[in-house]
Amino acid sequence: MQLSLTQPSSWILLLLLMTNLLLWKNAASVPMCAMRNARCFTFFEDTFELAGSLSHNISIEVSELFTEFEKHYSKVPGLRDKSPTRCHTSFLPTPENKEQARHTHYEALLKSGEMILDAWESPLDDLVSELSTIKNVPDKIISKVTDIKKKIDAVQKGVNSLMSTMLQNGDEEKKNPAWSRLPLLQSDNEDTRIRSSYGMISCLDNDFKKVDIYLNVLKCYMLKIDNC
Ligand SMILES: *[C@@H]1O[C@H](CO)[C@@H](O)[C@H](O)[C@H]1NC(C)=O
Repeated sequence: MQLSLTQPSSWILLLLLMTNLLLWKNAASVPMCAMRNARCFTFFEDTFELAGSLSHNISIEVSELFTEFEKHYSKVPGLRDKSPTRCHTSFLPTPENKEQARHTHYEALLKSGEMILDAWESPLDDLVSELSTIKNVPDKIISKVTDIKKKIDAVQKGVNSLMSTMLQNGDEEKKNPAWSRLPLLQSDNEDTRIRSSYGMISCLDNDFKKVDIYLNVLKCYMLKIDNC
């Protein structure tokens, strides 16, 4: 069975299919598989493979967004001053780097990824709507952020469904970090709004580098890939 998995939408479709198949409990015994690079992937492996690939692509795109935003608004005074607002996710107990991620139990690592993804749900919507109120914001920036949002939704669905299939306590109550729209984002002063959007994109960049690391460490672990 051959699947084309280059679009987030077909990825979601696969996940829905996979979630049903996983009701078999032991994913390894599911006979169907997707052929890629002359290898037969089970749906379980496939999901880790795709989550790793998609989160890596997201982290590249977010860092491009950050660079473009910084370049476009470089003349805004104080843009690069250390943002007075810490990231709303900074207190989350998540591994800081690849070394720490490697030494984290796979369930906790998946949970860390889920926490960051869930924590960005509403802030990302706010960022998208805020950017559209800034004058002369390049279309390139708007379309990039919209595309990033779509991909983040897809990877979040994937991680949520992995969580609920892998972990027995997967449906414990979620506690998202408190997010109330930053007062700075609502400012009448456009430069202030640009600076706070910049701060948020910088947090997004930092957080999705982490999600990329977690999901790719998990992918290596689940697919038993050496040297990564
Ligand atoms: C990630 O990007 C690469 C290169 O553009 C692409 O081939 C791949 O399909 C993307 N992965 C996903 C899951 O979209």
